[in-house]
Amino acid sequence: MRVLITGASRGIGKSLVEKALEQNMTVLAITRSEMALKHPQLISIQADISNPEGLKKLSSHLEVQKGIDILINNAGILIKQDLDDIKGLTFAESFHVNATTPFLITQQLLPILKKSQNPKVIQISTMMSSIQDNQSGGYYSYRSSKMALNMITKSLSVDHPDVAFGLIHPGWVKTEMGGPEAPVTTEASADGIWKVIQKLEKGQAFRLQDFRGRELPW
Ligand SMILES: NC(=O)c1ccc[n+]([C@@H]2O[C@H](COP(=O)([O-])OP(=O)(O)OC[C@H]3O[C@@H](n4cnc5c(N)ncnc54)[C@H](OP(=O)(O)O)[C@@H]3O)[C@@H](O)[C@H]2O)c1
Repeated sequence: MRVLITGASRGIGKSLVEKALEQNMTVLAITRSEMALKHPQLISIQADISNPEGLKKLSSHLEVQKGIDILINNAGILIKQDLDDIKGLTFAESFHVNATTPFLITQQLLPILKKSQNPKVIQISTMMSSIQDNQSGGYYSYRSSKMALNMITKSLSVDHPDVAFGLIHPGWVKTEMGGPEAPVTTEASADGIWKVIQKLEKGQAFRLQDFRGRELPW
């Protein structure tokens, strides 16, 4: 099994890589800076996927061309200062990294994924994208960009029924983004995410699930 994971340098992405290696998968880990972790089944690809050159480097990479069974779009940003941003640049950046980039990567890699017997595309979304769950307000650019990711993924799932698409909320996780108060470790989150991915099949109802497999409201 060959899996490609973005945002693999730290946080949830790094733990997703480590769990995949434990399961004997071959991992194509995408990072902007050099990856410290070394492993015989780890292929580290340095590319800034949020720009066109990085995306081109990724999709034309020999190891990517060899085949991928699972794509995990994990890289993401949360910019808290969006209320002070009168030019809306934080919105542009959040939408670019959290919604447009996962869409472009998926589009580029779909022909390669479709050569797999059981192709899967996982988007790491968030419970904060849920309208029903939003009782606390704020986080305008983050919530809306991840909600856009959900809609993009729904359309991809309609247009490509031969691929299984998953939207997963990783929990509130202790990372640079989640902060030190978060109750879930990256290891527990990654473990749960992999269990959800294993159960994901094409043709299933499209839903937002958390890392424990619970369905979340839109
Ligand atoms: N932590 C939580 O509680 C939580 C909750 C819900 C959802 N999530 C989602 O889970 C995913 C991972 O979050 P995390 O908590 O592990 O965050 P994190 O520790 O801040 O790590 C984010 C990762 O994304 C990469 N990244 C950020 N901007 C990028 C860009 N422009 N281009 C390429 N890579 C970029 C980072 O790479 P660099 O090292 O190169 O910056 C890093 O590997 C995100 O999609 C996030 O929205 C997290």
